[in-house]
Amino acid sequence: MSFKTVAVIGAGQMGQGIAQVFATAGFNVILNDIDSAAIEKGLATLTRSLNKLADKELLSEDPAIIAGRITGSTDFSALVAAELVVEAATENEALKHKIFSQLDKICPASTVLASNTSSISITRLAAVTERPDKVVGLHFMNPVPLMKLIEVIKGLQTSEETYQSMLEVADKLNKTAVTSQDRPGFIVNRILMPMINEAIFTLYEGVGNAAEIDEAMKLGAAHPMGPLALADLIGLDTCLSIMQVLNEGFSDSKYRPCPLLKQMVDAGYLGRKTGRGFYQYD
Ligand code: CAA
Repeated sequence: MSFKTVAVIGAGQMGQGIAQVFATAGFNVILNDIDSAAIEKGLATLTRSLNKLADKELLSEDPAIIAGRITGSTDFSALVAAELVVEAATENEALKHKIFSQLDKICPASTVLASNTSSISITRLAAVTERPDKVVGLHFMNPVPLMKLIEVIKGLQTSEETYQSMLEVADKLNKTAVTSQDRPGFIVNRILMPMINEAIFTLYEGVGNAAEIDEAMKLGAAHPMGPLALADLIGLDTCLSIMQVLNEGFSDSKYRPCPLLKQMVDAGYLGRKTGRGFYQYD
C-alpha cells in the first residue's frame, strides 16, 4: 500500500502533532475537527513547533512548505480523498465507535482506518466497520514531533498487509515502531499509567509534595520529567480514562484510579491544556 493523502481526525495536541509529522515526511494532510477554532489553534501550534525545529536546523524543508501540505477541514465528507485516516479524537470508546462507523461509510473500501487510541481495543473498533482487516492501532507519543516511538497495534482482525503498511509508515515518519498485541493499555500505557497513578497516590497520601515527587523520579530514576509534570502534559482526563480502561479491562483493583485524579478531572484541572493541573501554567 502506498499512501499520499492522510486525514487526521481531531486537532487536539495529539492530532496536530500527528498532522505535523506526516506533513514533514511529505504526505498531504487533511486535519479534521468538528470545531473550526480547534483547527485554527492546532495549525497555529504546529506552525510554532515547525519554526522551532527549523531554527534548530532539524527540518530539511522550509516550515511554510511543510505547513502548506496541511489543509484544515470541518467537513467529514472531505475525508473521501484520504488513503489513510488516523483518528485522534478524545479517548472515549463510544465516540470512537461512532467516528469509525461514519468513516467506514464515507471512505473508499481501500482506505486504512487507524486509531491513535492510547488504550481502547482495536478489535472492538474494527468490529463496528465493514473493513475490520483494514483497522489498526497507530499510537503516537506526546510531544509527537519529538518522541521517537510509535506503537503499532494489531487487532484480532487486522490483516498482515495493513500491519506491514503501518511499519512502512512509521519508517517514513522517521519513527521507530514497536508492535503490541491488542490488550488494555498496549505496552507503554500498561506500564506508564500505573506509575503516574502511583505518583498521584503518593501525593494524595502526603508522602511528598508535587515538586519533591517529580524531583525524586527525575534525579533518582533518570526520568526526563517527573510523573506529575508528565501527567499535566498528557492531560489528566486522558490519564483517568486510560486508568479506567485498565481497571475495567483487567478487572483488577491494582489499576484503580487515585481519588485525587478523579477529583482534579471533576474540577476541570486537566493539566497544561487548562492552565492548571499539578502545576500552574501561563
Ligand atoms: N515541537 C518542537 N519543539 C518542542 C516541542 C514540540 N512539540 N515540545 C518541546 N519542544 C522543545 C522545547 O521548546 C525545548 O526547546 P528549547 O531547548 O529550544 O527551549 C526543547 O524541546 C526541550 O524541551 P524542554 O526544555 O521543555 O524539556 P526537556 O529537555 O525535558 O524535553 C521532552 C522535553 C522531550 C518532552 C522531555 O521532557 C521528555 O521526553 N519527556 C517525557 C515525555 C514522555 O514521556 N512522553 C510520552 C507520554 S505517554 C504518551 O504520550 C502516550 C499516551 O498515550 C498518554
